[in-house]
Amino acid sequence: MKVFVNRRIPQTGINMLKEAGLEVFIPEHENLSHEEWLIYCQNHDAILSVGGEFKYDKDFFAQCPNIKTIALYSVGFDHVDIQEANRRQIPVGNTPDVLSKATSDVAFLLMQSVARRASYNFQKVKDGNWGDFDPLHALGQELYGKTLGILGLGRIGFEMAKKSQKAFDMNIIYHNRHQNEDADKELNATYVSFEDLIAQSDVLSVHANFNPEQKDLFNGPVFEKMKDNTIFINTARGGFQNEKDLYEALVSKQICGAGLDVTNPEPMSKENPLLELSNVCVLPHIGSATIEARTGMAKIAAENIIAFSKGEKIPYCANP
Ligand code: DGY
Repeated sequence: MKVFVNRRIPQTGINMLKEAGLEVFIPEHENLSHEEWLIYCQNHDAILSVGGEFKYDKDFFAQCPNIKTIALYSVGFDHVDIQEANRRQIPVGNTPDVLSKATSDVAFLLMQSVARRASYNFQKVKDGNWGDFDPLHALGQELYGKTLGILGLGRIGFEMAKKSQKAFDMNIIYHNRHQNEDADKELNATYVSFEDLIAQSDVLSVHANFNPEQKDLFNGPVFEKMKDNTIFINTARGGFQNEKDLYEALVSKQICGAGLDVTNPEPMSKENPLLELSNVCVLPHIGSATIEARTGMAKIAAENIIAFSKGEKIPYCANP
């Protein structure tokens, strides 16, 4: 079986594929055009797919009829038309669990950075503007005992809730497709409606899977219903937020700050007005960027392809 890997990944995954007797192709240059990527896909049986820039939509599947499986190097699969993959009986693998701690660490980092105004204060130091000790200036807010609202209490949301509770004794509320009884017990968390989530959270952190119906879920009217001390955190997908409305909500002080590891589009333009705001911290989608998580993702993606090549059910399947 011929496997196309569109970008270099930790070598462990590549070695696993080769040791399983699979033919692996990694292009020499990594910034493939759409056309180059499509041609490579047409000439392979399996793709180990890195990054979200290429879409696996109906056109893709029609143009690449030889593709038998796709192993995503991500937990998110919003760039895949899962229904079409199902219709064509193409298993799509993803990489859950191994990145939950790393990604929730970034949500936690953003929450604290915004609460303690890290961007603003770092900029002051860079500007040579350290300033005197001022009892009234650059005051952040403490998170102890505050309410953390989680949208999407899956593995990553759960980890974020757990560490926020341990560190700051935060009260956890969440909104999810289903009530999560383990979370209710383990975190003493409360399942609430979306309306209550936005109205009650001091920090609102997004961890849900993204689908097109949720585009711009966080928009002007939603920000308006939040408290003025609320910190909005998103480490899931940028499509959840309307960035113009977020900017307005921050400038008009409807909410207090925002920490984003994901934007819409990615990369965020350096002209984006959000970057001018001192109560915003933006990171370039680094949720899973640790040696441990990225190695784990490489192993899982390889396991998915190897299982498929042996005619077995793939162990981590986004379309069971
Ligand atoms: C994921 O795994 O979904 C990360 O966001 C990287 O795309």
